[in-house]
This record gives sequence, C-alpha cells and structure tokens, in this order.
Amino acid sequence: MRMSVIGCGYLGAVHAAAMASIGHDVIGIDVDAGKVAALADGVAPFFEPQLEELLQEGVASGRLRFSTETADAAGAAVHFLAVGTPQVAGGHAADLRFVDAAVDALLPHLRAGDVVAGKSTVPVGTAARLTPRIAQTGAALVWNPEFLREGWAVHDTIMPDRLVVGIPQTSAGEEAAALLRDAYAPAIEAGAPFLVTDLATAELVKGAANAFLATKISFINAMAEIAEAAGADVTLLADALGHDTRIGRRYLGSGIGFGGGCLPKDIRAFAARAEELGRGEAVGFLREVDGINLRRRDRAVQLVVDALGGLVFGRRVAVLGAAFKPFSDDIRDSPALDVAVRLRGLGADVVVTDPAALENAAAAHPQLGYAPHRDDALRDADAVVIVTEWDQYRRELTPQHAGSLVAGRVIVDGRNCLDAAAWRAAGWQYHGMGRR
Ligand code: UGA
Repeated sequence: MRMSVIGCGYLGAVHAAAMASIGHDVIGIDVDAGKVAALADGVAPFFEPQLEELLQEGVASGRLRFSTETADAAGAAVHFLAVGTPQVAGGHAADLRFVDAAVDALLPHLRAGDVVAGKSTVPVGTAARLTPRIAQTGAALVWNPEFLREGWAVHDTIMPDRLVVGIPQTSAGEEAAALLRDAYAPAIEAGAPFLVTDLATAELVKGAANAFLATKISFINAMAEIAEAAGADVTLLADALGHDTRIGRRYLGSGIGFGGGCLPKDIRAFAARAEELGRGEAVGFLREVDGINLRRRDRAVQLVVDALGGLVFGRRVAVLGAAFKPFSDDIRDSPALDVAVRLRGLGADVVVTDPAALENAAAAHPQLGYAPHRDDALRDADAVVIVTEWDQYRRELTPQHAGSLVAGRVIVDGRNCLDAAAWRAAGWQYHGMGRR
C-alpha cells in the first residue's frame, strides 16, 4: 500500500520505517531538511534500538523514501499525521499548530477516497474540528492513536498490543477502517486486537491511557512518601501489590518519577481539555499526580544534600543518567537531568554521564560537567546519584568497582534499582527513595 507519514520525529520516523518493513511503499515528510537527509541515508536522527537497521533496509529496498515536500505525499492511499503536539508556552493545553500546518499543507494533494489517519496525541474534539476541511477534498479523516514506548518503538509499532481506529459514522468511515485493517494486516494476523470506535473515543483512549500510566507511577511514589515516613520499604510494597493480578507490577517502579515528551505534557493537556469541556473536576486528581511527580525530584536532591551533611557547594556529585529513561537519548522533561541541574544550582560540582543522551544534555545544559565514560564521572566523586536505570549502572556497576573510584561511598538510588544490601555490605551509605 502507498502511504505517507507527515512528521518524522520519534513517532513518524519509526512508523515510516516499520510500515516499509512490512512491505508498504512509504514516503516520510518532514520540514527539517537535515533530518530528512539523515533518514534518506539510513541514519536515525535519534537513538532508538533497531530503527537504523529498518531504515537501511527500507531505503535500500526502495520502499522507504523521505522528502521535505508535502507534494510528494500525493498518490498515497493513507496519510498518517505524526507531528508533535507540545505543551503551549505559558499554559497546560496542547499546541496544535503543527497538526494544523500539516493538514493545511496536505489538503491540496488529497484525492477523493484517500484516508488521513491522525496518530498525534490530540485533545478530544480535534478530529471533529479538522473533519470539514479534509472532507471537502473527498478524503476521510480517522484517528489512529499511537501507544509506542520510546526504546521499544520498533517492536511496539510492528507488534502493538492493540490497534484503535476512530472513524466517522459514514460509509467512508467504514471503508477507511477496512483500509487500515489491510495496512496493519501482519499485526492483526499475529493477534493484535483491532478496535473500531468513533473519533472522540479514539482520541480519548490515548489521553486516558497516558493518564492512567502516570497515575499508577504517582500512586507508588505517593506510597514511597508514606513508606519513608513510616520506616517501610516501597519496593517490597510494590512487589506485594503487583502479585494481585488486578493491580500488576508494571508501572509501579518508584523513584524520581516520570518524564519525557509524553506523560507530563499529556496529563496537563488532558486536564486542560476537561476544563474546556466543563468537566475539570473529573480529572482534578491529575493535578495531584503531577504534583507528586514533581516532588520526587525535590526529594532526590534533598537526599543528596542530606547525605553530604547539608551542603553540596563545591562537592563533586556523579550523576548517572541524563535520558528520561533507559534505551533513549530523549531528555525532554527528563527528571534525571532536572536533578542534575538543581544540584548544580546549589553549587555542586556535577558530572553527568549517560550512554546515549550526553550530546543532547550538553546542548541543553552547557553549565553542567559531562563525562562520556561512567568511570570518569565516578572518579573522585563525593556522592553518586543514579537517575536513569541503564544496565551500565543498574547491573554492570558493582559496589566494589564504584568504591575503588569515588572519594566518598555515598549513593542515592533515584530509581530504586540497586541491591541496597549489597551496596551497604560493601561499605556504602545507600539511600533509596521510600526504602528503609
Ligand atoms: C509513554 C507511554 O508508555 C506510551 O504508551 C505512549 O505511547 C507514549 O508515552 C506516548 O504518548 O507517545 P514513553 O514516554 O516512551 O511512553 O515512556 P514510558 O516507558 O511510559 O516511561 C515514561 C516515564 O515514566 C519515564 O520517565 C520512566 O522512567 C517513568 N516510569 C515508568 C517510572 O518512573 N516508573 C515506572 O514504573 C515506569
């Protein structure tokens, strides 16, 4: 099937490469000429496991092309909208200017019978607002939200745990759903449920899913606050809760909380849209979810300050991690980097290391010290704080090896990912977040 993907960021580039890998003929469109040139050379413009292999295969096969010209999307049967919807400056709502610009650019190239499939995360009601503009070309607009996780994006795109398509209640809507069923045939054959809904429900599914995940993380972090006050251990609590199959252990990882380009801005946009709909009260708890999450960063900084006797000025702190999570170079709203920046603000001599995100971190925060190699960051540190649970820190770093490098055996485990007993046994002063 001929397809276009408008917007080649974390979502669109992966979607384009994944669709080509299952046999479709795909053109990716982006306004950023540098990004388009890299993609066309089979080079991933960001770190994402397996993406580069897929790009190279797709480009070599001729089934995957990239362009800066939206006109090159003409002739595709499906046009996926995959542009970003960041938080508006000075507010909580989603900024839809890239979605509107993408639709405006696409309109002159649409033909009757084409399908425009929105994948971007948008406030409910966006599809209804865009529909008249697209309908006048004879094309149909559907909403097909994306649930991929960074770091697992290729897997999640090729083998999603569900596919959701919101359609207008017309025969064109039914035809569009059938076309998307064909587009995703391999995943459906492998067992992925294909759910057809109305447009508003499809938009809501995405916002609700991220709101639920954020709530689950903040729930366990709220329990971490209680555990800390009560002298309990939140990781054991999470294990015990997780065995209840109604609850489950996933997304009960406590620590410095969630960040990234999605969960933080999505819960704010969701609440802002609910306010517009006159139902702000229904999701008032999302403000708490956000508040609990942001308190975690303060707490991690406080733990480092306390561990160093109340003053970090001039003390060397090794910060292990900059990305908002492992297997990513994404530093958007990264709690890890936020902790580093705050410690630097208190006068600490901060040295940040990360296997993938250092270049992005240095560009955004040149005031911090950086060490490409983990051991260089650890050398002579008065305290160590682990803020992104990369295997290099969580599994491969032993307390003995780290102890041979640092000046002081003090570690703050911002992801509750280390074996506290093993670190203490090796002479470290270990501080978890909500752990005894
Ligand atoms: C999230 C959702 O998981 C995806 O389903 C969704 O498609 C995506 O947002 C999006 O809207 O595009 P992602 O932002 O890639 O995906 O990251 P997650 O793996 O969900 O992690 C988000 C943050 O929560 C990270 O900072 C992570 O460290 C943190 N987290 C996650 C925890 O603090 N504890 C946990 O138990 C799990």
